[in-house]
Amino acid sequence: MEKMKQSAWWLFTLFGIPVTFPWLLYYLYNVMMFKRRKALLSGKVVMITGASSGLGEALAHIYYSCGCRLILISRRRDELQRVKDTLMNIHYTVPTHPPVILPLDLTEINSLNSEVEKVLKIHGRVDILINNAGISYRGEVENTNVDVYIKVMLINYFAQVAMTKAVLPSMMEQRSGHIICISSVQGKMAIPYRSAYAASKHALQAWSDSLRAEISDKNIKVTVISPGYIQTSLSLNALTECGQKYGVMDEATQQGYPAENVAEEVLKSMLNGSKDVTISTCSPKIAILIRTLFPSFYFWIMEVRAKKSRDSASKKE
Ligand SMILES: NC(=O)c1ccc[n+]([C@@H]2O[C@H](COP(=O)([O-])OP(=O)(O)OC[C@H]3O[C@@H](n4cnc5c(N)ncnc54)[C@H](OP(=O)(O)O)[C@@H]3O)[C@@H](O)[C@H]2O)c1
Ligand SMILES: *[C@@H]1O[C@H](CO)[C@@H](O)[C@H](O)[C@H]1NC(C)=O
Repeated sequence: MEKMKQSAWWLFTLFGIPVTFPWLLYYLYNVMMFKRRKALLSGKVVMITGASSGLGEALAHIYYSCGCRLILISRRRDELQRVKDTLMNIHYTVPTHPPVILPLDLTEINSLNSEVEKVLKIHGRVDILINNAGISYRGEVENTNVDVYIKVMLINYFAQVAMTKAVLPSMMEQRSGHIICISSVQGKMAIPYRSAYAASKHALQAWSDSLRAEISDKNIKVTVISPGYIQTSLSLNALTECGQKYGVMDEATQQGYPAENVAEEVLKSMLNGSKDVTISTCSPKIAILIRTLFPSFYFWIMEVRAKKSRDSASKKE
């Protein structure tokens, strides 16, 4: 026993210390850099879409507490006002830049340029654009109206494209900026009965990857965030096959990560200059890896998954 203890200690000093010590240094360095970069956020103009609930609301809290000047966008004016009031009540210690609320429907693509004009008139610039607004979908390809596909694509993809394009010229001019797109793990792998959603997030991912490369020499950064399940109203607001509200709180969504934690990871990813980050438990990450390395195996797993959902649905009927 004594001998085993001794050799364990010996092994630790031989391999443990050379590994732990640099790791600790690296860790401390990261913590320091994070604090420094966070301090630099003060006064930055941050535009957040979908800021009236869920992840967007949590992002508003984090960026506001860093002293940012916020522009909060979504359709529901009263909900945006609630978020604004809460921000100003909770974080009364930060330098006050009262958030600007901008109620608008992002699917009205042609109005976005003039809406961004308004913002530029107020603050003169946009430093960070967070494309977060989005909508989910539940249904079978066979029974889904094409209109629903168009609607999901309009919110999750075309609105992000149009919003980014509206902000981009000013970022080009000021030669700085950061565009953050909130995608999903379903932007990297598709699962059954989510076709419209997965397709829209794949499109967003691909478009962002092209954009990132094109503007890399303009000091404008693009970060794509792919979260797994988050505890929000996403499934409640999801569209069904005929475009109605799904209205059900899915178990997976309810047991997802708290929005505050995901928002914190989004901030970290932005500050450490990440280009593409998956924020999820292990299984989606493994699934993405399988989809990339062993596609046939992935397709088989999805067939089994589809069959399971069909069986449980027919039991319920
Ligand atoms: N929850 C998850 O499990 C999960 C997982 C991965 C990725 N995501 C992504 O995270 C993002 C945020 O979603 P969430 O989970 O926070 O869901 P949420 O609570 O339903 O929030 C969606 C937000 O988007 C806004 N929005 C929807 N349609 C809009 C439109 N046409 N114009 C303007 N704003 C619109 C909504 O505001 P109004 O109703 O006021 O317009 C709301 O603020 C989405 O892109 C979603 O795909 C979520
Ligand atoms: C940056 O931060 C994100 C979120 O915490 C993390 O997942 C990622 O690994 C970090 N990247 C680097 C290069 O430190």
